[in-house]
Order: sequence, then structure tokens, then C-alpha cells
Amino acid sequence: MKKKGGEPKDAGGGLARRGLPRCSVRDYGLCMASLLLFCLGSLFYQVNGGPPQLLLQLRSYLGNSTFLDDHGPPPPKILPFPSQVVYNRVGKCGSRTVVLLLRILSERHGFNLVTSDIHNKTRLTKNEQMELIRNISTAEQPYLFTRHVHFLNFTRFGVEQPVYINIIRDPVNRFLSNYFFRRFGDWRGEQNHMIRTPGMKEEERYLDINRCILENYPECSNPRLFYIIPYFCGQHPKCRDPGEWALERAKQNVNENFLLVGILEELEDVLLLLERFLPHYFKDVLSIYKNPEHRKLGNLTVTVKKTVPSPDAIHVLYQRMKYEYEFYYYIKEQFHLLKRKFGLKSNIKPLPRPEFLIPIPLETEEPIEDNEEQNDEKWLEDIYKR
Ligand SMILES: *[C@@H]1O[C@H](CO)[C@@H](O)[C@H](O)[C@H]1NC(C)=O
Ligand SMILES: *[C@@H]1O[C@H](CO)[C@@H](O)[C@H](O)[C@H]1NC(C)=O
Ligand SMILES: *[C@@H]1O[C@H](CO)[C@@H](O)[C@H](O)[C@H]1NC(C)=O
Ligand SMILES: *[C@@H]1O[C@H](CO)[C@@H](O)[C@H](O)[C@H]1NC(C)=O
Ligand SMILES: *[C@@H]1O[C@H](CO)[C@@H](O)[C@H](O)[C@H]1NC(C)=O
Repeated sequence: MKKKGGEPKDAGGGLARRGLPRCSVRDYGLCMASLLLFCLGSLFYQVNGGPPQLLLQLRSYLGNSTFLDDHGPPPPKILPFPSQVVYNRVGKCGSRTVVLLLRILSERHGFNLVTSDIHNKTRLTKNEQMELIRNISTAEQPYLFTRHVHFLNFTRFGVEQPVYINIIRDPVNRFLSNYFFRRFGDWRGEQNHMIRTPGMKEEERYLDINRCILENYPECSNPRLFYIIPYFCGQHPKCRDPGEWALERAKQNVNENFLLVGILEELEDVLLLLERFLPHYFKDVLSIYKNPEHRKLGNLTVTVKKTVPSPDAIHVLYQRMKYEYEFYYYIKEQFHLLKRKFGLKSNIKPLPRPEFLIPIPLETEEPIEDNEEQNDEKWLEDIYKR
């Protein structure tokens, strides 16, 4: 008031010239009317020795009113916003990279990252399932639970089903990665494998991959090659039986329980979509991932002695992994559909088919992998012996 009064001449012209909004007569009227209302209210207040009924009612209305009363329920969110997320990470599919990112993210965004010390048990008895599910569901929300574990059906135990996320990769590449990792470790050094698989016999460690495949060693045959699908199918014994039933169950579970299943070959887009779907968990994940500091931390260079199996051997492997590939292609298609929906282009050059015949570079940059032995294969041998 003082200012305006002090410089009346300049104010009007100056304001207009700068294009600031000028008060219309209507605005002025409204302003005056509310002032009058206030004055009248104040007068009533003083005259009656207390607030008039009108003001009380008004206040009580305003006081009780919530956004919901005024506007009805908010429009349903286009993206779900869960506070219970499970990442039942598949081995050798970049999960160590993602867990490293999750550690950083959980501090930044303040969610509860629940990990497990058990790395070699993907299959649980009914009691173990119940205990684990109880444990998970009592974690402070928002939580993200992660472990190498086959899909758990929370509703079966009367607990609300969390939202699942996961990442898979080309099955033959996953298999090869695991094969050499078990034997020779990764960039953490050659000595590493002695700690990881001390019990492994020299004979097994230096087993030629072509022999393993072509001479039907258990490690290179079914049911051991049936690896990815059980993570999505679940704990039912039939889920580990390479076949149509498990495949269909896995697909159904993906549709009903998984918010996103990404493919490692397009990890940056996976992270981008996670950021969009679960911002409370994954906001800024891509910039953290791309940050050179973080890359240094990770040291993504793989130095394992990877040898490329012969085309014949890869072909055999591919045939043995028929269901795994059917599932992988299904996931890939869904992932690309989702990407298109969110306006992401596939910046991956279309590979000439068949993909599995493309030699795997000996020194590829790969995400850091689990420092974990996947020992949960005794049961596979049992099945194999039958
Ligand atoms: C507001 O709440 C008070 C007490 O909580 C209640 O008596 C009153 O009726 C409520 N008013 C409205 C408009 O809901
Ligand atoms: C459940 O939590 C308790 C206490 O944190 C822990 O001792 C137990 O091992 C957990 N069980 C499972 C199956 O994770
Ligand atoms: C989970 O369990 C419930 C209750 O037993 C059952 O109805 C449902 O089909 C199961 N879902 C899956 C994916 O196994
Ligand atoms: C990664 O580790 C290898 C072997 O320890 C080392 O030679 C290389 O410089 C490291 N790279 C980065 C980017 O830190
Ligand atoms: C898992 O690893 C632990 C040691 O890390 C071992 O004692 C246990 O027998 C393993 N379990 C299976 C199923 O291989």
C-alpha cells in the first residue's frame, strides 16, 4: 500500500509497459466484496461476543473438507505405485549390477532394501515358503526384496501379493556365462574361482564346453538347461519339468504378477522403464548407471576364459533350450511392446537370425555378476538320474 501510494504516477504507467496484469473492474469488485465480508464477519464477531454461526459453519466445512470430498476419488493412476516389490533375480542376468544400483538407490530414496544371505536355494518347501513370505511381508514398507528364488505365491498363504520385477537374457548366453563363471570366475581375478568352487575337480573345471554339450554331460543337458522358466513358473514341482505346462504357467505369472520383465541386452531401457514405473525406487537410476564413477566401481570388464562353442554345439544347445527360447522370445516381444508404448525406440540393430549363431565376443563388456555359487542343482541331478 505504502509503495503504491508513494509513487502513484510512475507505478501505473510502468506496470502497464512491463505488461503486468492490470486489475479489471470485476477483480476489483471481488476484492472489495471479500474485504466487506471480512469486515462484516469481524463486526458480527465483536457484536455477538463470539463467532457467528455462519463463520462456524464455514470453518467446520473447510476444516473437515478433504480433497476427496471436493473432487471425488482421484483419477486412477496410470502407473501403479506399489510399496511392496520383489525382484526374484535370475542368476547371470545382470542381477549384481542391479543390486549394486539398488544399494545406492535405497539410500537416496529411503526405501527398505531387503536382501538375503542365501544365494543357492531357489526352491523351498512349503514351510520355508510360508516363513519367507511372512518375513518379507512384515518388512517395513516401501520395501524391495531380492533373492535368487523361484516365484512365490503370496496369495496362497493369505498374504497380499507384491509386485514382481525381473530381468532375463538370451538363454544360450546366460548358460555360457554361468559355465565359464563357475570355472574361472570373472574380473575379480583368476584366484577367485578357487574360493568359489574349491570342490571342483580339475577334470570338471577344464572340461571342454563342446564335449560337455555333445557328449550329454548333465551340466549341459536338460533339466539343467531349464533354468529361467522356473523363476517365473513357481515352486510347484512341475515348474522344473522342461515342458509346455511350466512354460504356460510362467507366461501366465508374468502377465498377472510381474510389472516388468526386462531383457539384459537392453539394460538401459529396462532401467528407464523401471524409473517410470517405480519412481519411488528407481528415480535417477539411469544417470547413476551411466555415471563414470559408478562404472569404475563396477569394473565391467570380463576377463574369464570364454571360448565359443562350435556352431554344432550351439545348435544342439539351442534345441535343448526350446522352451527357454520360447519364453525368452515371448518376454522380448512384450518388452518391445512396452517400450513402444512409452515411446522408446529400439536402438538395438536387428540381428540377422538365427541369433545364436553369432559368435560371442571373447571380451564383451558385461554387467558385474553375482559373486554367488549356484549350487541348487543337486535336485536336478536327482531328476537326471531317474
Ligand atoms: C466436521 O466435523 C465435526 C466434528 O468432527 C462434525 O460435527 C461436523 O458435522 C463435520 N462437518 C462436516 C461438514 O462434515
Ligand atoms: C526370517 O527372519 C528372521 C529374523 O530376521 C531370520 O532369523 C530368519 O532366518 C528369516 N527366515 C527366512 C526364511 O528368511
Ligand atoms: C496362487 O495361489 C492361489 C490360492 O491357492 C491360487 O488361486 C492361484 O492360482 C495361485 N497362483 C499362481 C500363479 O500359482
Ligand atoms: C578393471 O580391472 C582390471 C583388472 O583388475 C584393471 O586392469 C582395469 O584397469 C580395471 N578397469 C577399470 C575401469 O577400473
Ligand atoms: C548353500 O551354500 C551353503 C554354504 O554357502 C551350503 O552349506 C549349503 O549346503 C548350500 N545349499 C545347497 C542346497 O547347495
